[in-house]
Amino acid sequence: SAPTITLNDGHELPAIGLGTYPMDDREAASAVRGAIETGYRLIDTAAKYGNEAGVGEGIATSEVPREEIVLTTKLRGYDQGYESTLRAFAESRERLGVEYVDLFLIHWPLPRIEKYVDSWRAMIMLRDDGLVRSIGVSNFTADHLDRIVTETGVEPAVNQIELHPYFAQTAMRAADAERGVVTQAWSPLGRKTDLLADPTVDAIAQQHGVTPAQVVLRWHVQRGTIPIPKSSDPQRQAQNLDVFSFRLSESEMAQIGDRPQARVGGDPDEHEEF
Ligand code: A2P
Repeated sequence: SAPTITLNDGHELPAIGLGTYPMDDREAASAVRGAIETGYRLIDTAAKYGNEAGVGEGIATSEVPREEIVLTTKLRGYDQGYESTLRAFAESRERLGVEYVDLFLIHWPLPRIEKYVDSWRAMIMLRDDGLVRSIGVSNFTADHLDRIVTETGVEPAVNQIELHPYFAQTAMRAADAERGVVTQAWSPLGRKTDLLADPTVDAIAQQHGVTPAQVVLRWHVQRGTIPIPKSSDPQRQAQNLDVFSFRLSESEMAQIGDRPQARVGGDPDEHEEF
């Protein structure tokens, strides 16, 4: 299994996790169980993915005790607001079939509805009640982070953002780091792009005798960001976790990240995902 990174609240997060989007309940149950048996200890889902029951089943049916798993879920857009966050969390917990969630994130800021500060206050309450170990956000910009911290005094432990070599998020990663917020990467393999067929990535992979996916995941790990690659395929899952026995040089790191930059997913200030 992967080494861990310590969060600003003292909890630890494995350096690589399993993403579960898109997977339905059935696929998630077997993918999660298999991943845990392969050595994954960080599992990422969201209410919006519609697979929390499957993810919970995968955890429950694996041979690893629940306490050894770090489980992330996220608050969906139309549940933002103080009371509705508390209610939505209770529903997620019920679907997951767990006593507590390790990491609960606000999925998107949705600045137009102006509820993320109230949602954040509810997340703080859930953490104080012990139902959630760590709280964080997803798709937040530096301005959104400033706002919740100014209004509540509580820093998120994590900001999960789109991040891969075609959208390396150098500035946002620095803004997170400056505050002591750990950056997690969604679409770490650059979903929908040709990243895994990129000639530069492929050449570096051949140099090290590894696959392009391993090069990209190693690039994340060396930058200190936590990738959560999605796969249901046991061989790919194993491959994606096996990136701790080679090292990229500084020049390789630079070559991987140094290319035209473009988002695959939504802009945090514009994206409306409920
Ligand atoms: P699959 O689920 O069929 O294994 P991201 O996490 O960036 O969204 O990327 C996920 C995509 O990358 C999925 O389509 C997944 O396919 C694919 N993928 C995951 N791991 C690997 C790998 N090691 N090699 C090639 N493709 C991979």
